[in-house]
Amino acid sequence: MTQKPLNPDSPLLQPVTAGALHAANRVWMAPLTRNRADADGTPNDLSVEYYRQRAGAGVVISEGSQPSAVGQGYPNTAGLVTDANEAGWARVAEAVHADGGVLVAQLMHVGRIAHTSATGGATPVSSTAVAAQGEIFTTSGQQPFSAPRALETDELPGVAAEYADAARRARRAGVDGVELHAANGYLLHQFLADGVNDRTDAYGGSAENRARFVVEVARATADAIGADRVGIRISPGNPFNDITESDVSVYETLVTQLADLGLAYVHLLAPADDPVVGKIRAVWPGTLVLNTGFGVDSERDDAERAVADGLADAVAVGRPFLANPDLVVRWTEGADLNEPDPDTFYGGGAEGYTDYPTLR
Ligand SMILES: Cc1cc2nc3c(=O)[nH]c(=O)nc-3n(C[C@H](O)[C@H](O)[C@H](O)COP(=O)(O)O)c2cc1C
Repeated sequence: MTQKPLNPDSPLLQPVTAGALHAANRVWMAPLTRNRADADGTPNDLSVEYYRQRAGAGVVISEGSQPSAVGQGYPNTAGLVTDANEAGWARVAEAVHADGGVLVAQLMHVGRIAHTSATGGATPVSSTAVAAQGEIFTTSGQQPFSAPRALETDELPGVAAEYADAARRARRAGVDGVELHAANGYLLHQFLADGVNDRTDAYGGSAENRARFVVEVARATADAIGADRVGIRISPGNPFNDITESDVSVYETLVTQLADLGLAYVHLLAPADDPVVGKIRAVWPGTLVLNTGFGVDSERDDAERAVADGLADAVAVGRPFLANPDLVVRWTEGADLNEPDPDTFYGGGAEGYTDYPTLR
């Protein structure tokens, strides 16, 4: 449906700063796993083209990328583990920058949302030794999640260091910052969620304890590349990937401590009318990015209202960006949008990846 053009003074079209990140507009690209990196996790020519096409986002947040081999859950996800991975990201960063964009790499350690065929045979690690219920996509079709082992207390600093190392690689590659994926049931969420985290050490039990590992990862990453280049993504209460959470106060506990660290931004997955948005806003003085989190489709006018009403400073948009490389132009002009094709979301080649048409 064609819409009216946006006013030039629309809040969506105004620049916004998040720490050291300077975004030309407030329509950011949400992280989207596309399973098209090389088998060793290196972004390739197609990845370079895909991100270059989407450089018009205020900030391009990359696909979830593993900070370690055991942190990989799915085939052909990108990584920030090896020199080759770093070189691949350098090409992506160069392409995004050449078109005036800002690039953030999302660091996604999947924890127990994994299969040993993707971890190189290693037993997945988590806050718990209890396997997630359900199945995961592998190169040989859907398989039950592999049983994880619970990380030992004295292993945790090493895992935090993996995030820091991956962030250093991102920066060496010219990527502008990183986003810690603490949402959607992956490793950091497995620590936060009281229905999953069954630890009896200082990292389980109270909200303070469940937030502890995430804070330590954020601190290690901030020490490595500067807090002003580190964002974090959270999804309070999101049951995706076998998460159960009865105590979402952990997010206020967490974000209060992240505010002390001075991270660049918090990226919150929640519908705009969810009371959690105001609760997080109240404890987070910095830049807040909002994504609907699958609850409702991301629509331009809702996004504009969320920023105009001060619920958030920017919005992150997933599937509309996937299908519309020039989404900011289309939203600005009120043009029709391409429809995303779910059959080509995960894996494959150029089809459904780099061949969505632009207006011009
Ligand atoms: C194909 C696909 C891949 C996704 N991959 C990731 C990911 O790697 N990391 C992440 O945090 N969220 C991921 N998400 C969630 C999106 O970032 C976003 O929260 C979700 O699509 C809802 O926003 P939308 O309605 O604007 O698409 C993915 C979603 C889709 C559709």
